[in-house]
Amino acid sequence: MACRSNTYHRAGEQALTARILNGNEIRELIYADLRKEIAELRALGIQPGLAAVLVGNSPASEMYVSSKVAACAELGLYSEKIAPPETITTDELLTLVERLNRRDEIDGILVQLPLPKQVNSKRILEAVDPAKDVDGFHPVSVGRLVAGQPGLVACTPAGVMEILRRSGIPIEGANVVVMGRSDIVGKPMALLLMHAHATVTICHSKTRDLPDVVRRADIVVAAMGKAGMVQPDWIKPGATVIDVGTNKLTDAGLAATLFANNPKRLEKFREKGWTTVGDVHPDATQVAGAMTPVPGGVGPLTIAMLMSNTVKAARLRRASRPEFSGQPSAAKG
Ligand code: GUN
Repeated sequence: MACRSNTYHRAGEQALTARILNGNEIRELIYADLRKEIAELRALGIQPGLAAVLVGNSPASEMYVSSKVAACAELGLYSEKIAPPETITTDELLTLVERLNRRDEIDGILVQLPLPKQVNSKRILEAVDPAKDVDGFHPVSVGRLVAGQPGLVACTPAGVMEILRRSGIPIEGANVVVMGRSDIVGKPMALLLMHAHATVTICHSKTRDLPDVVRRADIVVAAMGKAGMVQPDWIKPGATVIDVGTNKLTDAGLAATLFANNPKRLEKFREKGWTTVGDVHPDATQVAGAMTPVPGGVGPLTIAMLMSNTVKAARLRRASRPEFSGQPSAAKG
């Protein structure tokens, strides 16, 4: 479909306005379920605990870790922020992680990425006890996902599955295009969708005829980290669009293009000098049947799933202990 005059529907055809999939509302549904599960654990004398390791002072990482710690407080989980200096060595960070592995009151360990250049990130992620790997980044967690075994799954793709399921978007038999092949989002996303019986295509920077591939999708998951790259005329009318991108946009020219139909947002951008945008052109709402906004779409689910993984880790770590053989009724495997 051609895209002219900032509208993306054929002449004489009514413009579709996508149903907006509100991540904040879905997060509240997940939190309501988690609150019950946390209360049941508390009745057994268990308070799930999360340790967040933040190395250095990147403002973005600091903001993410603060949001994670605040979410723990909101739900009544124990949390600890550990902030070693930027100059920490791989060996020192390994020692820190091993100490957290041994502490029984810590159920989940997350090491905020990226780590400074001198630190071997792979060795650090592999040092986290898989039973406490609430980010789902450890090779054991990834292996369990590949094998379809229960375990801790990376938070952003797990959050996307919650959005699709809780919004009633059919996955079984759907053609799904995942754009991006990162270890954190694209690969686990594709596996989760495949386990849910979707037909999955993974696209990346070398994919030929990308717009044509995307046009065949009933569901598009955009996770390339390229501001506004997916054009409205790449979307099949009525398709579901999940925008995982969180890009800081400062380019005034691109902002003018992306917000040509949204003068209020353009005005706000001009006042502040930047805004957060996804990987999908916002006007894709004129073509899609359902779409996540940025911000307020996938973002809130990433933290919700971290909370969910922390509770799950607390439960699974104790499942084999005789003193905790009474399982909470809301337990999920
Ligand atoms: N950096 C960006 N996203 C993430 C995440 O989900 N987990 C961690 N540990 N670091 C990140």
